Amino acid sequence: ETIPKFVDPLPIPKVAIPYGFDDYSIEKETFYNIVMKETKHKFHRSFPWTKVWGYNGTYPGPTIEAEKDVPIKVAWKNQLPKKHLLPVDHTLHGSINSPDVRTVVHVHGANVASDSDGHPEAWYTHNYNHVGQTFERKVYEYTNHQPSATMWYHDHAIGITRLNVYAGLAGFYILRDELEKRLNLPSDDYEIPLLIQDKTFNVDGSLYYPDNATPEVPHPIPSTPSFFFGETIAVNGKLWPYLNVEPRKYRFRILNGSNTRAYDLQLDNGEKFHQIGTDLGLLHHSIEIESFTLEPAERIDLIIDFSKYKGRNITLINSNAGAVGSPHTGFIMKFKVDDYCQSKDTSIIPDELFPYHPMNPALATKQRTMTLAAKDDPHYEGRVQHLLNDRMWSDPVTEIVELDTIEIWHIRNTFQFPHPVHVHLVPFQILGRKPVTDSDFDENGNYRFDPTNPEDFEKLNKPFPYEDGLKDTVRAEPGEVTSIMMHFKEHVGDYVWHCHILEHEDNDMMRPLKVVERVV
Ligand code: C2O
Ligand code: CU
Repeated sequence: ETIPKFVDPLPIPKVAIPYGFDDYSIEKETFYNIVMKETKHKFHRSFPWTKVWGYNGTYPGPTIEAEKDVPIKVAWKNQLPKKHLLPVDHTLHGSINSPDVRTVVHVHGANVASDSDGHPEAWYTHNYNHVGQTFERKVYEYTNHQPSATMWYHDHAIGITRLNVYAGLAGFYILRDELEKRLNLPSDDYEIPLLIQDKTFNVDGSLYYPDNATPEVPHPIPSTPSFFFGETIAVNGKLWPYLNVEPRKYRFRILNGSNTRAYDLQLDNGEKFHQIGTDLGLLHHSIEIESFTLEPAERIDLIIDFSKYKGRNITLINSNAGAVGSPHTGFIMKFKVDDYCQSKDTSIIPDELFPYHPMNPALATKQRTMTLAAKDDPHYEGRVQHLLNDRMWSDPVTEIVELDTIEIWHIRNTFQFPHPVHVHLVPFQILGRKPVTDSDFDENGNYRFDPTNPEDFEKLNKPFPYEDGLKDTVRAEPGEVTSIMMHFKEHVGDYVWHCHILEHEDNDMMRPLKVVERVV
């Protein structure tokens, strides 16, 4: 490994421009045509061009900038080639007798009607020549009826999400609102989204993805691995980039868009981050943190104040690199601080950010214990499947939720490693975590927890300060129960919940979630 680091400037994804050349609509301000295409991308100045897949032919895709309560429509079109860029495993759920190149787009974190959510089986191929069984519409509608947040869009097609996202199908979806605008946070050139993804390359510069799960077992090939850890770190599509910054405050929205890899991020000079938001919105109060973990799909919204570091270099580092992959993945990107500001920094780091009303757990009408456990993969001897409640994707729906109810889910992770659990449609609050013993469960395997009893809350370890806000993805810690609470407020229909390690999601660690009208 001799790829020089910090030699390419950080690219900033372009903002998507509404309305292309299409016939669908006259609502020019709010209608987007976004086309998935194969394209060539430069990951590093010393690399040849690499074939990737990109929304509008760019990786990352263009950033969608939307306003709270201003609806937009997007025609997400597939103009990808017939042949996949990466090795396709035909044994995974939804992959048997399906076209290899199938796509569907999910806006991760969106409060959205189910027919625009990007259901995994609502996929479609080039020009909609073939469609999956839940396909309903070509144009998706987003009402943006939710607080400002850093969301992202990415592919979600059944059994092939890991390859489509790895090929480049991911971008930011940033939602803004008036409340946030009044806060005078760093903005425009001083507000920068960072998409972190790990990648591995073949010697010819093409993207590498393994075609065999475990070389010791004579699997038919290709077979998906259970984990994928890339050897290099791309930020907004460049390997270990640098960013020239002025000695002032900057806002960064950081997204871990990796397939499997989690990051423990910090600055190498010990400077603190001023966190202002979580996955789905602003925190109640800004907080100072030295480091934080981001599992796949988690986001953090924070401010770094470079004003004390004129003329210095600061590196964003990952202290979770040792466990897996090369030591190079311990480095993310570099900030090169200029000597002067272009203009006076009048932005602030407000103490009070968002009038946050926590949900009342005593009002929960349903609790569910969700067990994450391993099973032998029926498709391959020696390959493991990671399942939710011991059920496959195709088993009948069990998570049937009534509209306008609050539920508490206790996620019990029996593995030795964390899984990031994501629930579509609704933000949740993390109530806490607890290392488990068998006596924590009743004879039916349900976690013993009384949401009206304060003592039961005292037994829980509080969420980390940096995750104590609106979340849509949570790190289910190994050997622990992670309890979350959410209010299903607005939409009925078919959604999903799943592990966001894409290799798991593609191999049955995903389950349907159905919201139904309340029966009174
Ligand atoms: Cu980010 Cu169901 O996905
Ligand atoms: Cu998992």
